[in-house]
Amino acid sequence: MSTLLSLRDVWVEYGDRIIIEKLDLDIQAGAFVSIIGPSGAGKSSFLRLILGQEAPTRGTILLDGAPLIPECGPDRGVVFQRYSVFPHLSALRNTILGMECAQAPLTGRLFGAARRAAKDEAAAMLTAVGLGDSMHLFPAQMSGGMQQRLAIAQALVKRPRILLLDEPFGALDPGIRADMHALIRGLWRDYSLTIIMVTHDIREAFTLGTRVLALDKRRHDPHAPHRFGATAVYDLPMRDRAENSLGSEEVLPLTE
Ligand SMILES: Nc1ncnc2c1ncn2[C@@H]1O[C@H](COP(=O)(O)OP(=O)(O)O)[C@@H](O)[C@H]1O
Ligand SMILES: [Mg+2]
Repeated sequence: MSTLLSLRDVWVEYGDRIIIEKLDLDIQAGAFVSIIGPSGAGKSSFLRLILGQEAPTRGTILLDGAPLIPECGPDRGVVFQRYSVFPHLSALRNTILGMECAQAPLTGRLFGAARRAAKDEAAAMLTAVGLGDSMHLFPAQMSGGMQQRLAIAQALVKRPRILLLDEPFGALDPGIRADMHALIRGLWRDYSLTIIMVTHDIREAFTLGTRVLALDKRRHDPHAPHRFGATAVYDLPMRDRAENSLGSEEVLPLTE
């Protein structure tokens, strides 16, 4: 296993508020990293760092040993809890758009043969996420679970190596969530993805992750809540769980 992402002494500060402090982390290619932590701990900020939407105030982030370039590059795809798809576009056009952003970042459009190829790829990706029969539906015609499948297709059609998920299943019913878990596991394996998923659901974190990271403050100053930032307070490797080769029937000992 090779190191895909390396964070060294990474800090995120907004004005005089310290959000993340001294984060040192290596993430291996093929890992499925679950991130948990209290609300406001800086989990979404952490994902924005990896996405390159935000630069650390201090410290370095390396992707394959080279400084991470802050751009919407094809290396990284992202899915949020909701509203990451465009309501005025069909599932197919939403997915094609995911590709256009990566392949034609200046014009945002593809033409001719490139557009036809993009359409075929988008259709294949929609089929892979279980929306093969729903390509012409608009988001408003789809259930919450279908919309998240679409958001995943939109992110994956760029063929990113890293998929970032920010509480992607948090708004879904428990039954639907189980289906989504099976889907994301399959995609992780089939596309050899490295996944970093923020979740509020501890069981979900342990069920899916090859590694569970807890982001929280190590120190609190009750008089100055933003004097200290969050860092990785727990970093738990899930034993017997190889990268990208998770058995689907695997049962984990969980105490609840
Ligand atoms: N662009 C920003 N400017 C100022 N403060 C921010 C900004 N983004 C996030 N924050 C603050 O940083 C803290 C961490 O936010 P966030 O990363 O969204 O936490 P989480 O996802 O763990 O709930 C919060 O206190 C939030 O208000
Ligand atoms: Mg968040």
